Amino acid sequence: MKRDFLSLWDVTREEIFFLIDQALQLKRDWLQGTVKPLLRQKTLGLLFTKPSTRTRVSFEGAMHRLGGSCTFLSVQDTQLARSEPLTDTARVLSRYIDALVVRTYDHQDVVTLAQYASIPVINGLTDLCHPCQVLSDLMTVMEKKKRLDNVVVAWIGDGNNMAHSWINASARLGFRLNISCPDGYWPSAWVLERARQEGIADIGLYEDPVEAVKDAVVINTDVWASMGQEHEAEKRRKAFWPFQLNARLLAKAPKEAIVLHCLPAHRGEEITEDVLEGPQSVVFDQAENRLHAQAALLQWLLSS
Ligand code: CP
Ligand code: NVA
Repeated sequence: MKRDFLSLWDVTREEIFFLIDQALQLKRDWLQGTVKPLLRQKTLGLLFTKPSTRTRVSFEGAMHRLGGSCTFLSVQDTQLARSEPLTDTARVLSRYIDALVVRTYDHQDVVTLAQYASIPVINGLTDLCHPCQVLSDLMTVMEKKKRLDNVVVAWIGDGNNMAHSWINASARLGFRLNISCPDGYWPSAWVLERARQEGIADIGLYEDPVEAVKDAVVINTDVWASMGQEHEAEKRRKAFWPFQLNARLLAKAPKEAIVLHCLPAHRGEEITEDVLEGPQSVVFDQAENRLHAQAALLQWLLSS
């Protein structure tokens, strides 16, 4: 039975810990030049509607170092742009490649592709969630803090796709997640409800970002207007100012807190230059870990 990775709900707590262990091992192997080419003869397809730097290049790099190859498909260059159905595309691509990463707007499109594909389908970001990013963020927390139990994570800003994946991570692992968003920009009620009903999430919602960060050892933020929301940027900027991750807010958190941002960042908006470039920021290690976490994910999906 093929496995898909459409959200963190697709993996168990034990599988998340296994993938993080494998990713940390692959990172050590990479430094020592001992990565084994376990995916020789395998091809990964990348079907992208939205722009990407990290997701595209880290998947391509991971596949390359595991001995496999990639084919990048910009949606507008495929027959999808001329109305070929996703259902046909999924079945055709399954005859050519071994796994498919999809980046698009509507999460349902990834679900449809996964349903019709006979190969593993990986969510490379939808408007609903970004599980590959948060899988590697969990690896980064483990690397820096040596634990994922008894950590308090704060999410400050937009209750968007990234926030949803952090909620799913808390649902699976049970760590405390403090979320602080402006009115009207909270995470989806459905995503929160599912995390509480079906998972072991420990989530607090705070109107005041200071309350959310005061016990947090991991502090996260993301852009105020995600891809596809550019027309709302001005309105959002006004609502989000009190939620900027700046030195004043960071000073309210414990000294050992680390700062995460999935990037790309808008300096001077959701995060200030001094915080992004400061000693508590681990954003470039976090970006690097996409490579190792996805190498672990590919190895696992393509060998199971
Ligand atoms: N963080 C992330 O997914 O970056 P890209 O949009 O560059 O892939
Ligand atoms: N929330 C952002 C994440 C980009 C990696 C977006 O969807 O544009």
